[in-house]
Amino acid sequence: MCGIIGFTGSREAAPILVDGLKRLEYRGYDSAGLITGTGSSLHLRRRAGRLVELEKLLATQPAAGTYGISHTRWATHGGATDANAHPHLSADSTIAVVHNGVIENYLQLKKQLQADGVQFRSETDTEVLAHLIAHYYQGDLLLAVRKTVELVKGTYGLAVVCKHEPGVLVGARLGSPLVIGLGDDGNYLASDASALAGYADKVVYLNDRQICQLDAESWVIRNQDMDTVDATAHDIQHYLGDYDAGKGDYPHFMLKEIYEQPEALANAMRGRLDDADATAHFGGLNLTAQQLRATDRVIMTACGTSYHAGLVGEYLFEELARMPVEVEYASEFRYRNPPIDRSTVILAITQSGETADTLAAMREAKRMGHTSLAICNAVGSSIAREACGGVYLHAGPEIGVASTKAFTSQCAVLTMLALYFGRTRHLSAPQGQKVIDELRALPDVIRQTLRCHDRVKDIARKYADMRNCLYLGRQYLYPAALEGALKLKEISYVHAEGYAAAEMKHGPIALVDADTPSVFLVPRGQVFDKVMSNMQEIKARGGPVIAVCSPNDAEVAHIADDLIPVPDVPEYLQPIVCSIPLQLLAYEIALLKGCDVDKPRNLAKSVTVE
Ligand code: G6P
Repeated sequence: MCGIIGFTGSREAAPILVDGLKRLEYRGYDSAGLITGTGSSLHLRRRAGRLVELEKLLATQPAAGTYGISHTRWATHGGATDANAHPHLSADSTIAVVHNGVIENYLQLKKQLQADGVQFRSETDTEVLAHLIAHYYQGDLLLAVRKTVELVKGTYGLAVVCKHEPGVLVGARLGSPLVIGLGDDGNYLASDASALAGYADKVVYLNDRQICQLDAESWVIRNQDMDTVDATAHDIQHYLGDYDAGKGDYPHFMLKEIYEQPEALANAMRGRLDDADATAHFGGLNLTAQQLRATDRVIMTACGTSYHAGLVGEYLFEELARMPVEVEYASEFRYRNPPIDRSTVILAITQSGETADTLAAMREAKRMGHTSLAICNAVGSSIAREACGGVYLHAGPEIGVASTKAFTSQCAVLTMLALYFGRTRHLSAPQGQKVIDELRALPDVIRQTLRCHDRVKDIARKYADMRNCLYLGRQYLYPAALEGALKLKEISYVHAEGYAAAEMKHGPIALVDADTPSVFLVPRGQVFDKVMSNMQEIKARGGPVIAVCSPNDAEVAHIADDLIPVPDVPEYLQPIVCSIPLQLLAYEIALLKGCDVDKPRNLAKSVTVE
């Protein structure tokens, strides 16, 4: 949510900043801006709207200089206007600030500053920071930033420049990610290591309440007491893996990421399936055999799509490990005070590893002394670093705002985790080996499933004008229905509801009419007949039915209007397989409606505010 990139070095800063913003734009895209410096002159350029508007401005009014900071915004305080776009300047225009996060006490700080005669030029919470830093500035930018952040309640990832200190960038972090990048031509400050690919070779992660200063040749991180902090520089390739961070030949990141799923699933499983013991292994779980055995309950906590993966995990853990699981929205969990005993493990599930609510929920669990694990995609993210142990997805960067490959990879990792826990309990070696074999076959199964794309395109054309849509499934496919509905809502702005198929009779059936299709997830399985009855109930009320079903299923074909056959797999893998046509359906409908698939309105990829 909002992206920051700063540069100081021997090259022109503006092209580097704009290129970095392009990679970060998925984090927020309602305005963008930068400030560069030549000697002690600062050059501010900012525009409401997409990054392309800033680029147009720069074409007529270039910003020269070899250092600068920049920002792409997801508005919290104040609308998407030029005046509210970052960077924000102090009244005397000596200090410029870009900020991710929320300053919760900004009104109080603003009133004090106004009482001292400061004129505000924006509606943002960020502007108070620029004025406060200028107030404290006495020749040492780092010190002025440190004094300012002491007054602040809320969250921030900050980058600051001062016209009196050419070439110097100062950063600070509390709750919003910030990394230093080290490159041959200079040094960088960014909210996300992926923005630095191709520029920096190494990244250094800041922790909360740390501040940093960098220039073209050097960098330092300090704690609140201004002591120097030892920090490790990590190889940036470790974060990005072998994935191409661009769109390749695909028109959208989302489509590329949908098609990357066979490879992402293979990567999630690589080196983790153990035939000798018929189980799974995870390098970073950090659980002793005793802790593993002593665990008898799991609380999974997450937001958005990751929450839906957690719901799939609940069924997986029940079936494969016979363990009770609760799944809770992180935003709810963090403010609840649930009784949790010592044998419960908390499992945060997150693609970005930066979602504010998930991070806070995990910290709350850790504070209470519970073992807090994470399933995470972004290597080096806050949650990955703070969890007691965890499992990386290795799905590569996910840029499309609507999560696709992260979801299916999360489901695969949860399957392996359930297998791992199951094998310490009732699951026999042959049963474990069967799961391993079925998981191994999955990447190929997904390759076959992707062949439904043309069929999905036809169906999308038929239903592109719908205003409402129901997604219905049972058991393992209930969370898949929720996820299918979320995908459609997110990128095509069509109202969609996911429901447990039988529960549909208790309300949503009132929505059914000839213009409201229902997408049924109905491959063969234990509850097939039950779901078929639910389908009949919809048909009896004139509702069109799109069925994701087993190949050549005459029974489904007899009732449903449109079929999307998918390969047969065991029920616990059906959410992964059935999600593929649902992702493609949302994508195709969004395209037909002319929506911006990778940057849907009002959303952001990584939600770093509460
Ligand atoms: C945002 C994204 C969703 C994502 C959710 C949780 O809302 O748009 O796609 O599922 O955050 O993100 P996380 O990174 O924690 O999985």
